[in-house]
Amino acid sequence: MAETPAVRQTIVQLLSHMRDGKEIREYLNRFSQVDQSRFAVVKVGGAVIRDDLDGLAAALAFLQSVGLLPIVVHGGGPQLDSALAEAGIAPEKVNGLRVTPDAAITVIRDSLTRINLSLVEAVRRHGGQAAAIPQGVFEAELLDPAVYGRVGEPTGVRLDLVDSALKGGEAPILACLGDTADGQLVNINADFAVRALVHTLQPYKIIFLTETGGLLDEKGRLISSVNLATEFDRLMASDWVAGGMRVKIEEIKRLLDDLPLTSSVSITRPEELAKELFTHAGAGTLVRKGERVLTVSDKRELDGSRMTELISKSFGRATVPGYWDQLSLSRGFVTENYRAGALVTEVGGVAYLDKFAVLGEARGEGLSKTVWSNLIEAVPYFYWRSRATNPINSFYFSECDGAVREGNWIVFWRGERDLTRVPRFVDLIGKLPPTLVES
Ligand code: ARG
Repeated sequence: MAETPAVRQTIVQLLSHMRDGKEIREYLNRFSQVDQSRFAVVKVGGAVIRDDLDGLAAALAFLQSVGLLPIVVHGGGPQLDSALAEAGIAPEKVNGLRVTPDAAITVIRDSLTRINLSLVEAVRRHGGQAAAIPQGVFEAELLDPAVYGRVGEPTGVRLDLVDSALKGGEAPILACLGDTADGQLVNINADFAVRALVHTLQPYKIIFLTETGGLLDEKGRLISSVNLATEFDRLMASDWVAGGMRVKIEEIKRLLDDLPLTSSVSITRPEELAKELFTHAGAGTLVRKGERVLTVSDKRELDGSRMTELISKSFGRATVPGYWDQLSLSRGFVTENYRAGALVTEVGGVAYLDKFAVLGEARGEGLSKTVWSNLIEAVPYFYWRSRATNPINSFYFSECDGAVREGNWIVFWRGERDLTRVPRFVDLIGKLPPTLVES
């Protein structure tokens, strides 16, 4: 494929943000594992197409150059306003929906088709392949013709055109036009269209490409990530979360409520898309459904079989027989879906982190950080050990106050005020029997 300078620039930019290729490879694997039609639904508004067509097309072509095909849904707000004005039809909105008199529907169709083709052609100019699908996907019913005219509410999604484009290696570019059972063309709100498509496809990522590139806090700074389970109520109660942002967050919650826990929404600018997708830190706002953390001081409050399953899945090895029954837990932390957790016991009178486990699929979701911060807040003084070969050790080294090598183990501690105690605890901990079956 002939990549244009803009696509090459995206690649160079991405490379400059990474320390090594690991992060990028990890995300690329993750995105490629899901079915092609489930990688991502991308929503882009008319303003971005008008003001940043090349950036947008380069970002989409870049994804294709690494073998990923997003499904794009676009709006056309500003373009429709001027097309309608030119046709002598005054733009009018009721409850945020564009009122569409019969005379307006052909103007809207023509205008959306032009926008659609301009995006398709721009992607091709950047060396990508895209299929124009301005209509034929969304099945709809008239919402309330007396109020809105030819505005439809999606009742279903026909994937034939989308699938055929994907099979041919083309990114499907959809406009928000629907048709009713009796063949009437209707205008569909872009949020409604995205919701219908997301419901049917269950994508891994939903991406909003905007000019601002994310949600902004009360000081106008970008919010890097939002965990709905723990932050939604607080956000909705803050007075600085005003009209447009409130609607946006509610819409995102609605989308994510309909998807598996692993799915997430990213809001970013076209120029930052590669960095957002292929690095942990991202560039934009990442919204996840998230999970609450349950903190217990009694083992019976935890589900032992789910906990041992979490441990064996995250270490790739089973716990030794009787592990759970013999465990004398002093503190336990686990996310509500048992995807990350920590178990604290006691060894020789000191708190000992017996397990810190995070499912592979949950890594990069921030769950481990949430569990870890709950842990260190509740238990400021403790020891733990990890195999010298465990890749998590760089995280442990950054979190510990000290560490020593003890045979195949590294023993770490936090909050130890009397270092003369270290050798005894290290010795005790190094000698603890294995809790995981040898592989
Ligand atoms: N690359 C990951 C993803 O797209 C993580 C992105 C993190 N982004 C952020 N704004 N915090 O799922």
